Amino acid sequence: MKVVVTRKFPDSIINPLRDKYEVVMWEYEDKVMPRDLLLKESKDADALLVNLTDDINNELYEQSPKLKVVSTMAVGYDNIDVAGAIERGIKVGHTPNVLTDATADLTFALILASGRRLIEAADVIRRDEWKSWAPFYLTGQEVSHKTIGIIGMGRIGEAVAKRAQGFSMKILYHNRSRKREAEETLHASYVTFDELLERSDYVVLLAPSTPETKKMMGHEQFAKMKKSAVFINTSRGTNVDEEALYEALKTNEIYAAGLDVFDQEPISADHPLLKLPNVTAMPHIGSAALETRMKMAQMARDHIIQGLEGRDLTHEVN
Ligand code: DGY
Repeated sequence: MKVVVTRKFPDSIINPLRDKYEVVMWEYEDKVMPRDLLLKESKDADALLVNLTDDINNELYEQSPKLKVVSTMAVGYDNIDVAGAIERGIKVGHTPNVLTDATADLTFALILASGRRLIEAADVIRRDEWKSWAPFYLTGQEVSHKTIGIIGMGRIGEAVAKRAQGFSMKILYHNRSRKREAEETLHASYVTFDELLERSDYVVLLAPSTPETKKMMGHEQFAKMKKSAVFINTSRGTNVDEEALYEALKTNEIYAAGLDVFDQEPISADHPLLKLPNVTAMPHIGSAALETRMKMAQMARDHIIQGLEGRDLTHEVN
């Protein structure tokens, strides 16, 4: 059987596949496998080990009659036509849980960096522009004791709430369904989307990317936020109207933003958002801790073996 792997992985991850199957692996860690090559190699493939930069859609399924498993090294699977896969009996695996803490850590890092202007402050030193300590120099917003509003109370949302407890924050959340257990254990209060926007000092977007969440943060939503509020997005860039966010930041309708994800990735360095001093931007590194990425890679690899052996996947999307 043939497995196509769209990024370069270490031998410790790939050898268990090589022992059993023919493996075709794209040799670059930092470049997307060209679409035409992916399509060519998929034609007689039994399984694909992909990631969030690969578009796995009907065009690919149509020309890959042997395909049995698509395993993505990510918790999000908005790049995969899951319904199309299920229709064809193709199993789709993803990698939840193992990245929850790393992503919650990065979310909190962005809360602190954006609220307390850490990147701006570090740049001042690098440019040799620090003249002296001054009473109101580089003052930001406090984090402790403030109100955090979490949009999307899944695993990562709950892990962010846990961290917020350590900062004595008041926790609000909005989710498709109530999370009674989180309400009890994390002292999180369920509020409407509008109420969350109006009351939060830190608005944290963690909703998955779906047709319903597309541009869910737009002009109207930013206008509802406090002028002193900080917006954090560690979910998907497509959830935000970036023009509206730019306007809100530029006109000080909101205080700052911490962004790990963008509508177009990689975002171009001349994107207007990156010209604003009150934007802290990261290149989609939410889960980028070495131990976490190894666990994600192992899980994605194991899903291939499970699927090709006709077993259930540990984390199957259905
Ligand atoms: C995911 O897993 O969906 C993240 O965006 C990348 O780790």
